[in-house]
Amino acid sequence: VRTGRCVVAVDGPSGSGKSTVSRRLAIDLGARYLDTGAMYRAITWAVLRSGVDLADPSAVAKVAGETDLRIGTDPEGHSVTVDGVHVEAEIRGPEVTGAVSAVAAVPAVRSLLVTRQRDLAAAGRIVIEGRDIGAVVVPHADLKVYLTASPATRAARRSAEDATDVGATAADLARRDRLDSTRKADPLVQAPDAVVLDTTEIGIDQVVARLRELLAERGVSR
Ligand code: DC
Repeated sequence: VRTGRCVVAVDGPSGSGKSTVSRRLAIDLGARYLDTGAMYRAITWAVLRSGVDLADPSAVAKVAGETDLRIGTDPEGHSVTVDGVHVEAEIRGPEVTGAVSAVAAVPAVRSLLVTRQRDLAAAGRIVIEGRDIGAVVVPHADLKVYLTASPATRAARRSAEDATDVGATAADLARRDRLDSTRKADPLVQAPDAVVLDTTEIGIDQVVARLRELLAERGVSR
């Protein structure tokens, strides 16, 4: 049965397996899927295109407010457009990856995107992944998951995905972790009621199976 409202919040650092687990779980549940990192990346792409100074929060916020961002919620697709331009590939590039932490630290950008995320979560079944989903975006989520993995595992996964050097990836992950968990506005946080799963040793299949068990205990199944 696909009926009934259900929100699953999946948080964790980059390379923890969040995206793969979230998509797979959404497909299994017949749910929608929202990649909130892609929203921050798309706004970052718009900011870079505009040429405003990344260190000027009010200029960054102004661009964010004027940007028409659209994101698909099909777990098997990944449509993201900014003012009508498809940016699915560009938002994974090094320019955006290097600038996204600065943009995601601007409180006005966060409140704009959090409002959009709550609107998208308001109906039906959805799996939402990010950094502050269980703690800030949907504190009433039916299930909150916090995924972790060892830094070496995370760097290896990321460099395999992006075809980049593992040493450089490890350094970049460490830099982003620091920025994402020390910023003032909604840092990466583990909600107190989140189920914590370390994906270093257990595979994606097992993680997804465990989450389906937890959801079944809460009366949610396909
Ligand atoms: O998950 P990702 O690497 O695509 O996320 C991109 C950046 O956006 C990352 O630096 C953290 C930030 N982010 C955030 O601040 N809040 C979220 N809910 C999701 C991502």
